Amino acid sequence: MRSLHSLPLLLHALAVGVAGLLNVTIDDTDPAIVYTGVWEPSSTLMSSLDYGGTHTLSADTNAKATLKFTGVAVYYLVPRWPYAVNTQLSLDGGEPVVVNLTDPHASATAPGGSESAPSSVAWSATSLSNTTHTLVLSMAPSGLYIVADGFM
Ligand SMILES: *[C@@H]1O[C@H](CO)[C@@H](O)[C@H](O)[C@H]1NC(C)=O
Ligand SMILES: *[C@@H]1O[C@H](CO)[C@@H](O)[C@H](O)[C@H]1NC(C)=O
Ligand SMILES: *[C@@H]1O[C@H](CO)[C@@H](O)[C@H](O)[C@H]1NC(C)=O
Repeated sequence: MRSLHSLPLLLHALAVGVAGLLNVTIDDTDPAIVYTGVWEPSSTLMSSLDYGGTHTLSADTNAKATLKFTGVAVYYLVPRWPYAVNTQLSLDGGEPVVVNLTDPHASATAPGGSESAPSSVAWSATSLSNTTHTLVLSMAPSGLYIVADGFM
C-alpha cells in the first residue's frame, strides 16, 4: 500500500523534473518592465530585426529598465548595430556587466542608423535559484544608449 500511495507523488516529481523548465519571452512593451527616466517609445523604433517588431531605447544617463521575474535563468535578447552600442546589466544588485551590442559582421556605419543583425541572446544568467530576481538595465560608463528588446 505504501508504495502505491507514493506513486502519484513520484509521478508528479518526475513530471516537474522533466517539464518544469519553460522559456517564456516577454517583449520590451511588456508591463512587467518598469522604465524610469526618459525613454523613446517603442512605437518609434520598429524593425523586423527586433523581437516583437520594436525595441525601446534611452539616451538618458539616469534611465533604468527594471524587470522582476521568478525563474532559474534569464536571457537578454537584443539586435546588433553596425556602430558602437552597448547596455549595462545588473542582476540582483550584482556587479554591472557591459554588453557589447556592436555587430561584428557588419561594416561600420555612422551612429544613429538602423540595426543590422536580428535579436538574439547577448547575455544570460543560468543556474539561478528558483526565486524572484531583479534585472536592471542602465547606461554603461562608455555608453550612449540603453536598449531593451526582449527578455526570456
Ligand atoms: C519554480 O517554482 C515554481 C513554484 O513557485 C514551480 O511551479 C516551478 O516548477 C519551479 N521551477 C523549477 C525549474 O524548479
Ligand atoms: C531556453 O532558451 C535557451 C537559449 O536559447 C536555451 O539554451 C535553453 O535550452 C532553453 N530552455 C528550454 C527549457 O527550452
Ligand atoms: C564591441 O564589439 C565590436 C565588434 O566585435 C568590436 O569591434 C569593438 O571593439 C567592441 N567594443 C568594445 C568596447 O569592446
